[in-house]
Amino acid sequence: MKIQLLSDLHLETEAFDPEPAPGAELLVLAGDIDATWAGYRRFAGWPVPVIVVAGNHEFDFRELDGAWPALRDECTRLGFTLLQREATVITAADGRRVRFAGATRWSDFGLFGDSGRERAERAAGYFLRLMGATHHGQPFDAAAVRAEGLACRAWLEAELARSAAGAWDATVVVTHFGPSLRSADPRYGRQPGTASFCNADDDLLPRADLWLHGHLHCRHDYLVDRPGRRHARVACNARGLVDKGEAEGHDALRVVELR
Ligand SMILES: [Fe+2]
Ligand SMILES: [Fe+2]
Repeated sequence: MKIQLLSDLHLETEAFDPEPAPGAELLVLAGDIDATWAGYRRFAGWPVPVIVVAGNHEFDFRELDGAWPALRDECTRLGFTLLQREATVITAADGRRVRFAGATRWSDFGLFGDSGRERAERAAGYFLRLMGATHHGQPFDAAAVRAEGLACRAWLEAELARSAAGAWDATVVVTHFGPSLRSADPRYGRQPGTASFCNADDDLLPRADLWLHGHLHCRHDYLVDRPGRRHARVACNARGLVDKGEAEGHDALRVVELR
């Protein structure tokens, strides 16, 4: 299955015109497409199915309780499939049935273990205040983000433990946040702030054939060993911000092939 992957277009400030990639059977939008949501309309009438996983910026200055159903309504109106702790099976051109398991997978700040969590949460505080979101009427602070992150992790763990029982032939996970320190942005590397970008989901990686994510404003494509089986693959095709040089070298027509 050939999948066009886009994320972190940040259309709330960036100028970018999406185009369908030749040969792609599906488009995955892995979050931070547009904090205003207006940019989602640019994908209306897309020639192949569109799967959406929300990023953190989709919730800027919003109350999560109301934003989730509103974002779902918007996606439904545009004909997209929003995956928030949900899975769907899509049949590829070659006849294989591919399960897509999607969740934002907010940070649980556990990337550096329990001992590094306090520093990681402190590093996140400033950006969470800038985000200005609320959840259940309370500030969406590090503790609230962690609770959401752990709920996503629990759902993913249970979903990936389910037996296919003939219902699908391959599994693609889509998250906004990165699943491993291996997805860290090389500009920042191993530091407390990186726990706001990546989770330690390395144990789950072998249970997916392909794991797509965004959030890090850089590109990734790496393999994960699976003894006795073909390796799993992790890919990120985030665009990022032009004035920070992040979009340099970004291939908007990049297609990731699930083999
Ligand atoms: Fe982003
Ligand atoms: Fe993000």
